[in-house]
Amino acid sequence: MLEELEAIHADAISAIAEMADIDGLEAFRVSYLGRKGRLTVAAARMKDIPKEDKPAAGKALNEVRNAITAAIGEKGESLQIAIDAKAAENVDVTLPGRLMHPGARHPISQILDRAVATLRRMGFSLASGPEIETEWHCFDALNTPPEHPARNESDTFYFEDGRLLRTHTSTVQIRTMETSPPPVRIIAPGAAFRRDEIDSTHLSHFNQLEGLYVDEGVSLAELKGSLEYLLRSIFGEKTPVRFRPHFFPFTEPSFEIDIMLEARGKASKWIEIAGCGMVDPDVFNAVNKARGDNAYAPDKISGFAFGLGLERLAMILWGISDIRLLIENDIRFLRQFP
Ligand code: PHE
Repeated sequence: MLEELEAIHADAISAIAEMADIDGLEAFRVSYLGRKGRLTVAAARMKDIPKEDKPAAGKALNEVRNAITAAIGEKGESLQIAIDAKAAENVDVTLPGRLMHPGARHPISQILDRAVATLRRMGFSLASGPEIETEWHCFDALNTPPEHPARNESDTFYFEDGRLLRTHTSTVQIRTMETSPPPVRIIAPGAAFRRDEIDSTHLSHFNQLEGLYVDEGVSLAELKGSLEYLLRSIFGEKTPVRFRPHFFPFTEPSFEIDIMLEARGKASKWIEIAGCGMVDPDVFNAVNKARGDNAYAPDKISGFAFGLGLERLAMILWGISDIRLLIENDIRFLRQFP
């Protein structure tokens, strides 16, 4: 038995060495290890050998089977490598490549992601509100009286029931304070609508990012520090930021924020980028009235709010000359923001 196994082993190894193709190798495998293969047939005779010889014979049988299996595996691999190499010889490297078009985030989404990431690090959480709003949330609660021009039919989209498309995201300030007591620290990105004539700097449907922080002792210094940090995280660490006195009905004092921009080849100039201010006590009073308590007592708490136009941020950051490019979805334009 042992000699026979030895012979099978030797024959197999030399036959494998001479194999030149994968099909032949497979046929060889079947002829040795298959159901009627040489080794299988030899193994079947195990039952006839004397009991005391069985352990040694069994061990030898296993060794031979393992050795043949391993040799076939190795040979198969080297034959495959040869086949692959041959196939690669036929690749025509002069053919033009196939162009890949990986998708990319829209520039507005990219700006938003950056701003939200920075603000979240500063402890702000996301809030949202409806785009179809009541006059109360859009104007009255924000200390904007009935005669204010922003409420004019010609500035705002009204529905017949008196509701309207929100003209700014400041509505979310009111909704948040109506439902949660202080402290609140929220940001609300979202759509805003105005009856603006569409041109290179105006859309009737655009995107804002609102922020609100209310707690005991929130100061103007914190407003300045937070917004400087936010704007520099978007436009670069050294970007000069300035706060210019302004008026909003719902903040007092109010500011517009400008950043200094170095346009390529042109003189640097200040560009308006956001509105902000300390929440007007009348806004807290309106919220308290709606809540039916005094959670936002103007003598105990204070807060700051800000609003940024996302299209505007994108236009300034990437030097986009026409706001309409951002909604046309021309792939040649969008491809420039990978
Ligand atoms: N809501 C203002 C606008 O749309 C921006 C703003 C928000 C100003 C919050 C002050 C505070 O112009």
